[in-house]
Amino acid sequence: MLHALITGANRGLGLEHTRQLLQRGWKVTAACRDPQSASELAGLDTGEGELVVVAYDATDLAAPARLADTLTDPIDLLFANAGLMTRETRTFGSAANEAFIDEMRVNALAPLALVEALADKVAASEMKVIALQTSRMGSIADNDSGGAYGYRASKAALNAVGKSLSIDLADRGIVTVLLHPGWVKTDMGGPNGLLTIPEAVSGQLDLIARAFKNPAMNGRFFHVSGEDLAW
Ligand SMILES: NC(=O)c1ccc[n+]([C@@H]2O[C@H](COP(=O)([O-])OP(=O)(O)OC[C@H]3O[C@@H](n4cnc5c(N)ncnc54)[C@H](OP(=O)(O)O)[C@@H]3O)[C@@H](O)[C@H]2O)c1
Repeated sequence: MLHALITGANRGLGLEHTRQLLQRGWKVTAACRDPQSASELAGLDTGEGELVVVAYDATDLAAPARLADTLTDPIDLLFANAGLMTRETRTFGSAANEAFIDEMRVNALAPLALVEALADKVAASEMKVIALQTSRMGSIADNDSGGAYGYRASKAALNAVGKSLSIDLADRGIVTVLLHPGWVKTDMGGPNGLLTIPEAVSGQLDLIARAFKNPAMNGRFFHVSGEDLAW
């Protein structure tokens, strides 16, 4: 049975990734801050799959090592999906505050800590894919509207982290991809998003399936459409 570990699995894109992978018969280790209150996650139909819910707070740098100690199975897909966008760092004149550090911690540092702790389990798996949920807003080339200082900087930092991971882990057969889901109707994306959550997730899972044994995809920044995005 293929096994995925997904962070931020209690709502939005992470919840839907968990749902669709269970439907496909995967085992999913669904990581979220507060498993007790993750009722939608707990209520998913597991079908032929298997669901394990674990506690994970991205601001806790020791959390990935604890996960590594408790998980015994190899991890075919390690998906760092949890993310944070704050209002406090949005606007010039009031953007330089502690919330900027929070975004860097959750969006860039936490995924690196996760991969450092779990890369051995990915390398021991069949698929060996690491997916980092980034954003087009982290593209410096694509920034033609300004603002969103903390979020943009943290996703640009995640892109830099992902590129280095793709090089450092390549000789272990790991393919690392940076994925932009599109503008999606989630709590973060808001009601005007262009894609529904199921549309974005099925597109991302198609890309992830393509990444299996496909080193040509390693270290690239993909729109959910499959198009390469500029850094
Ligand atoms: N929606 C879009 O249009 C869009 C576009 C580009 C990129 N993205 C990226 O896609 C990812 C998922 O976003 P979404 O749209 O599904 O947003 P969402 O509905 O706001 O979900 C965010 C998820 O991240 C989790 N999270 C936040 N801080 C955390 C922490 N400290 N520790 C553990 N989990 C934490 C949240 O958990 P809690 O419920 O505990 O807060 C939640 O599960 C993010 O990385 C986001 O940047 C989204």
